[in-house]
Amino acid sequence: MEPEQKKETFRLVQRPRRLRRTPALRELVKETRIHPGQFIYPLFVVAGIDRRKEIEALPGQYHLSPDRLVEEAEQAWQEGIRAVLLFGVPERKDESGLEAANPEGPAQQGVRALKSALPELVVMTDVCLCGYTTHGHCGVVGEGGEILNDPTLEILTKIALSHAEAGADLVGPSDMMDGRVAAIRCALDEAGFYDTGIMAYSAKYASAFYGPFREAVDSAPQFGDRRSYQMAAEDRREALREARQDAEEGADIIMVKPALAYLDVISDVRAALDRPVAAYNVSGEYAMVKAAAARGWVDERATTLEVLTSIARAGADLIITYHAREAARWLKE
Ligand code: PBG
Repeated sequence: MEPEQKKETFRLVQRPRRLRRTPALRELVKETRIHPGQFIYPLFVVAGIDRRKEIEALPGQYHLSPDRLVEEAEQAWQEGIRAVLLFGVPERKDESGLEAANPEGPAQQGVRALKSALPELVVMTDVCLCGYTTHGHCGVVGEGGEILNDPTLEILTKIALSHAEAGADLVGPSDMMDGRVAAIRCALDEAGFYDTGIMAYSAKYASAFYGPFREAVDSAPQFGDRRSYQMAAEDRREALREARQDAEEGADIIMVKPALAYLDVISDVRAALDRPVAAYNVSGEYAMVKAAAARGWVDERATTLEVLTSIARAGADLIITYHAREAARWLKE
């Protein structure tokens, strides 16, 4: 028997709303799924014991001594997070930043503590000078205040080696010097660290969204800015050149940073390369959501999940986010 066609019903071939009718249907046809297994949780390590101090510009994020770092990572692991990215926050800074390669530095101690307590946790480290230098730049400063590329590579390789020796699974150079991936890969291989990977901050833009992070590690440049090494917001094609070069130099994971204002770049890099692509949902992006949510202007849970979904939809396989633990909990609800 023919179903009776109601008079007012049009004969539409496509009715996209059919698949939006029920929660189960919507779940079934979802194009993008985010999962705690793809999150990377950034953590800030300081020297000492039993230290856990909230970072003012990054509510909900802490300066942690290695013992408290382990506690935080254990909880994150319970919630489904499988990877962390460590930033060492030193007691003292110097002109060269060589302190960043100290085997007893907070980052190195943090790595060892994590790998002994949670051997399966993927531990990544940020490799850079800016948090360790008095001038706050990511490279060696020349006489005229210019940032010297190749002398910086020597220090970066030392830092990367010290992280690998401590047991890091991947090192993450965030300095944007030319040739750093090749230099680090070569040094790691020479020392026998074939299995230590490199997550390259490949397309890293000179961004105002790093503000809260620079407060967290006290790394704002004391003169000038980072525009002679980080990329300009206007440049899209250049991101592909940077990403391809890093892949050729041996990067295992390619990163785009920041994420939200650069979704087109994430999409381009995903389409052009066959490596895993990570995107860094940076401190300013996190702080904006936190600040608006604290005033009741946005719903933090919904906003955060929408932001993370947009980054995954753009093409990021991995998402570095300060919201990792909260998002993991919300996704389970
Ligand atoms: C260090 C570094 C920065 C970030 C990660 N590694 C800051 C910068 O380049 O000034 C930013 C992270 C964030 O904002 O969350 N080079």
